[in-house]
Amino acid sequence: MEQNLTTERSGSPASIEAEAKSPTRKKVFVKTYGCQMNVYDSQRMADALAQDGYGLTDAIEDADLVLLNTCHIREKAAEKVYSELGRIRVLKEERARQGRETMIGVAGCVAQAEGQEILRRAPVVDLVIGPQTYHRLPSVVRRARAGEKIVETEYAIEDKFEHLPAPERKAVRSRGVTAFLTVQEGCDKFCTFCVVPYTRGAEVSRPVSQVVAEAERLAEAGVREVTLLGQNVNAWHGEGPDGSEWGLGRLLFRLAEIPGLDRLRYTTSHPRDMDDELIAAHRDLDKLMPYLHLPVQAGSDRILKAMNRRHTAADYMRLIERIRAARPDIAMSGDFIVGFPGETDEDFEDTMRIVRDVNYAQAFSFKYSPRPGTPGAEMDNQVPEEVKDERLQRLQALLAEQQRAFAQSLVGREIDLLLEKPGRIDGQLVGRSPWLQPVIVDERAGRIGDIIRVRITRAGSHSLFCQPVDWKADLTEAAKGGSV
Ligand code: 5AD
Ligand code: SF4
Repeated sequence: MEQNLTTERSGSPASIEAEAKSPTRKKVFVKTYGCQMNVYDSQRMADALAQDGYGLTDAIEDADLVLLNTCHIREKAAEKVYSELGRIRVLKEERARQGRETMIGVAGCVAQAEGQEILRRAPVVDLVIGPQTYHRLPSVVRRARAGEKIVETEYAIEDKFEHLPAPERKAVRSRGVTAFLTVQEGCDKFCTFCVVPYTRGAEVSRPVSQVVAEAERLAEAGVREVTLLGQNVNAWHGEGPDGSEWGLGRLLFRLAEIPGLDRLRYTTSHPRDMDDELIAAHRDLDKLMPYLHLPVQAGSDRILKAMNRRHTAADYMRLIERIRAARPDIAMSGDFIVGFPGETDEDFEDTMRIVRDVNYAQAFSFKYSPRPGTPGAEMDNQVPEEVKDERLQRLQALLAEQQRAFAQSLVGREIDLLLEKPGRIDGQLVGRSPWLQPVIVDERAGRIGDIIRVRITRAGSHSLFCQPVDWKADLTEAAKGGSV
């Protein structure tokens, strides 16, 4: 999917934040794998369960309900779930010896794709719930507690977003000053390597009014930056209040009017759906951050065709030219797959060439992983694993070099920094640059939620260092500490 939104991107699978801890409430532990959309879904599931008396815990051994929100995009991601379920079985038995009940639920794309098979492979699981029915989670949990084994993976007829409760202000605040907001789900593109059209279903856009109301609520609770999410987010469309059809560009113009919301982002996009209005939004909206995740996947037209990408390498390059003409400081990000069936050395060299031509600020690259049920998995010219390994190494070396060079090019420049959270080292805060890089700053520079003007002083391996522009040099020593 164009959701680049994978575990590889966001680091190790994260448990969502603990909030509203109370000894009398039942507790749920949620572990999230994969993309940002899963992060968002986990929050919404927590909001739904909160209404049923569940508080979040970040200690799995205290949990009355353990929910794994899973990812099916590559085989490795899916297999992780089963090894985790093995560990959880031991925990469940341990708690049972103490007379405590533990419900185990599997949600997300593995749930959708494998359904009943999960109960067969991991009988410890009590409930399996697909992404289209999260609004039914509280009742599914109640039935599971009454002893039923449940697989809920039918696509619901009702709109789950209409039925999911809005997060409490307190919950929004506990999640920080940046937030995800899913505006679109599913995909109709059917790239031949991708499971998303099967796990997340057909493209659905949330209505304008719903999206605007949710963004306003987030802003009122103190959120400064919203990232609109969708597997194919730039295919989002909806009817505006004036009755005309809006695209994502128009929606961004509308969201930019919300007071307090200072930064907008969206991910992930398909090249075919980058229309003029969206490009104009990049030109005209200061609030729209100059960073674009626009996967190309491969540089060879032959492979792009086999992938059913519906664009050529030249189409992609022309598009980038137009985007850069509209917003010259835009940083490009992408996804790449190496070793798609039939990929020759020459095809791979075309991928290396397009990477050189675009010059990415950031990118994610993967070895092709055949996914059951997708056309790619049936192709008979699969590439040997060692060839994929070698290509991936070369590609990643080039992408890492481009990322380093981009970070280095910012040294000495003044930028706006949104302060997000405490750093790992005392006395530091971490913020994000407009280009999504973590930036470390002395904590006396401002408060979380502030956007401050800083000068980049140094580029570390994973983060940038800076000093506020209105500071004297002696105050900046604390900000020079280690890298995060
Ligand atoms: N094998 C490897 N990578 C994949 N992706 C999607 N499906 C596969 C697959 N079967 C990658 C694509 C996509 C990103 C989220 O994951 O690059 O953009
Ligand atoms: Fe993205 Fe293609 Fe998968 Fe759709 S099918 S989510 S466009 S990679």
